[in-house]
Amino acid sequence: MCGIVGYIGPRPAVPILVEGLQKLEYRGYDSAGIALIEDNHLRIYKKVGKLTNLKEKLAGNYFYGTVGIGHTRWATHGRPSDTNAHPHRDCQGRFAVVHNGIIENYLPIKEWLLSRGHQFTSETDTEVLAHLLEEFYEGDLLATVRQMIRKIEGSYAMVILCLDEPGRLVAVRQDSPLIVGLGEGENFLASDIPALLCHTRRTYILADGEMAVLTADSVEVYDSQGQPVEKPVYEVKWEAAQAEKGGYDHFMLKEIHEQPVALRDTLSGRLSPDNQSVNLDLSLSEDEVRQFNKIFITACGTAYHAGVVGKYVMEKLAGLPVEVDIASEFRYRDPFVDQRTLVIVVSQSGETADTLAALREAKRRGAHVLAVTNVVDSSVAREADDVLYTWAGPEIAVASTKAYTTQLVAMYLIALYLAEKRNKKSLVERVAIISELRKLADKARVILENGRVIQDFVAAYKHVPSTFFIGRGLDYAVALEGALKLKEISYIHAEAYAAGELKHGTLALITGGVPVIALVTQQSLFEKMLSNIKEVKAREATVLALAMDGEADLAKVVDHVLHIPRTHELLTPVLSVIPLQLLAYHMAVARGCDVDQPRNLAKSVTVE
Ligand code: F6R
Repeated sequence: MCGIVGYIGPRPAVPILVEGLQKLEYRGYDSAGIALIEDNHLRIYKKVGKLTNLKEKLAGNYFYGTVGIGHTRWATHGRPSDTNAHPHRDCQGRFAVVHNGIIENYLPIKEWLLSRGHQFTSETDTEVLAHLLEEFYEGDLLATVRQMIRKIEGSYAMVILCLDEPGRLVAVRQDSPLIVGLGEGENFLASDIPALLCHTRRTYILADGEMAVLTADSVEVYDSQGQPVEKPVYEVKWEAAQAEKGGYDHFMLKEIHEQPVALRDTLSGRLSPDNQSVNLDLSLSEDEVRQFNKIFITACGTAYHAGVVGKYVMEKLAGLPVEVDIASEFRYRDPFVDQRTLVIVVSQSGETADTLAALREAKRRGAHVLAVTNVVDSSVAREADDVLYTWAGPEIAVASTKAYTTQLVAMYLIALYLAEKRNKKSLVERVAIISELRKLADKARVILENGRVIQDFVAAYKHVPSTFFIGRGLDYAVALEGALKLKEISYIHAEAYAAGELKHGTLALITGGVPVIALVTQQSLFEKMLSNIKEVKAREATVLALAMDGEADLAKVVDHVLHIPRTHELLTPVLSVIPLQLLAYHMAVARGCDVDQPRNLAKSVTVE
């Protein structure tokens, strides 16, 4: 959600900034802009729309300035436009600011600045930052930034360029990610690691309240009290190529195909060779695990859908009541959470503002918080009591795929861990599940090799305005995710329904030819699902069923059938979601949609 970059060193800054923004475009693509110092002037170039528009604007010019900042925007305050694009500047053009987050009290600040004679050119909250700097500046940028921070409330990662101090960049973060890249005679800033990887693997991951001062030769970090901080260098292990498309047309398709490896990596080292137990390296004692009387899972979007699966699985295996809640609801509804509650927060990015706020609320109420996240040292990882990393590798496409399936694996691991420590489920049952878990990666690969049925279905139905996804139990949980995938990237209306609930109202929308995607992987609910399928068939819906191998009779009842390899009934979500991801992907491509950067969305939602 907005990407920011900064560069200071001996090289011309513009190509480095633009390349960095390219890597961060998944965070927002409403506009892009850069600022640099040249000829003793602060020069700002910005353009509404994708980065390519900015590139066109810059093309044919040579820029030799060696210090600069850049931004790619996901609009919150003020519509996407040239004037609302970052960087923002003060009245005299001495300060330029790029910002990711929201300044919640910007209105009173703006009024105060207006009364002091400042003139605003944009509708953004960010512009107040540049004017505050102008208002307070007395020759020391660092002191001025500290003074400004005391005035503002909200979330921010920002980088500031000052004409009077061209040899340094000042950056500060609160509730939005910011990473320093450590170079040789040059230094970098970015919202996320992929923007730094072609220059350096050595980074400082800034914590909340920390401020960094970069020159070409040095990086100093201070805490919120202004005290110097000795930051450990975080060495990035993964390859730059992992954040490239690698021959695929889209990041999403690549990430769908990376799932077998991601599943294997997430399980790696966590299952005992005899399949009898899981090792999660948690700080909890056996006694503490036994003390829990309830689990709460909270997250947003796709991660929330992983939590819905988690609820089913943990209740079945760990024998504890589980509530699952959308993070933006959790914190405002006075949830029943106390010292005996295990709260699991799930977040690919580890930076989602609502999830982070829910985590803090859970901690405030005394719960033990376990984070499931894909980003090492992210805010969620740092603030939780325990972390279970999903090793999915960088996920760039806005639509989450491999993060979801690895989050599912995390749910199984936690459920099995709790079952073992709390003596629930027999050893035989746990061993059966763990040995099946090990086979999921290979079975996922089989699904990826057989995508033909999906492409045929897409060719026939790509123009439909509306679809329904139905299922019972775990299939309903996956239906939620299948519908979200389809609507977010193909813009086809998609609604997920618990199949038994359809007849209580929504069946009115099922008419001739409406596609219904019916998930039928749960053996114990097979007959019930069949009845629900017949109900929609009686209203002349077109049914695409998704079932495990061997359900030959389904073909007699429905119009199309997709099969997934057989697995343990509790584990089917990991496999059944893959054809739904492919369905959404191919629909989006067939409809000419921007798969990796769907309209109005951005990855890593760092505002509430
Ligand atoms: C949908 C999608 C989003 C995210 C949600 C939470 O494909 O990706 O719904 O799942 O914004 O993001 P994280 O997991 O980073 O907290």
